[in-house]
Amino acid sequence: MALITVTELDGKERKILLDTGWNNEWVDYIYEMNNIPAMLKSGEIEFMVISHWHLDHYWGIESTLKHKPDITIYGPATHYPEDMQLLKGAALTAKDKEGKAHHICKNDVPHTGKLIECSPEGDKGDGIYRLMPGVATRMFDVPILLRVRGENVLYFNVKDKGTVTVTGCCHPGVLSLFSYARKNFKGYQPYGCYGGLHITLFETWDPKFDDIIRGVKSFKIQKLACNHCTGWIWAEKAAAAGVPVVKGTDKYKSYKKTSSVATASNAFLTNGDSVVF
Ligand SMILES: [Fe+2]
Ligand SMILES: [Fe+2]
Repeated sequence: MALITVTELDGKERKILLDTGWNNEWVDYIYEMNNIPAMLKSGEIEFMVISHWHLDHYWGIESTLKHKPDITIYGPATHYPEDMQLLKGAALTAKDKEGKAHHICKNDVPHTGKLIECSPEGDKGDGIYRLMPGVATRMFDVPILLRVRGENVLYFNVKDKGTVTVTGCCHPGVLSLFSYARKNFKGYQPYGCYGGLHITLFETWDPKFDDIIRGVKSFKIQKLACNHCTGWIWAEKAAAAGVPVVKGTDKYKSYKKTSSVATASNAFLTNGDSVVF
């Protein structure tokens, strides 16, 4: 999940939340640390974009709704009934092999605001939803692991720089996202990218990952700020190959839980880091 601040041409700052994390305890901790509860309550955060319905992007929904039950949400239209149950205030359980039910997540605060169900058609039939001047989201209707389908991707047109692509997990593939922008946005000038890129998630290497490095380089991105499911190996190799990967700081390492795959290399952004485009 990420807090995105957009500075309009007149200097006014506007805020968007991208995703809402997995575990309420963790999301509450992160929110408190960054003053998110106050920003939600006051409406300073104008709306939330759910990139996709994967657990690690969505199951922390109660942490957001308890501060702003009527927040406007943009989410892929390809949700399942249980996603909507959780949104409306429910506890989800899953059965193990023996048929025993286990609690997996819950939300005690029903969503009372608007849910804008995003489809590839967009809000005016041209493939995108206009969120603010220079800011749009597109729903890529792709099959994703764990039976999820469809991901919302954000595009920002940054004055004098170019387009910044922002993703949750990037399940459609980073080159597909850049290619979509090149094909569909008039005067597309690639500039930056932020988010999980879902490449070497399992930290194993395949020659096709070299192709992604070559592909990203061909777009001449000026700043690649990746995190989450990108994969440490890919980020390290991409940086070594000349991709301008922004390093992280491990700012939140004080939290009692640490990732089992996180290395000390700060190959990319980690929790608590920020980047300016
Ligand atoms: Fe993810
Ligand atoms: Fe995902």
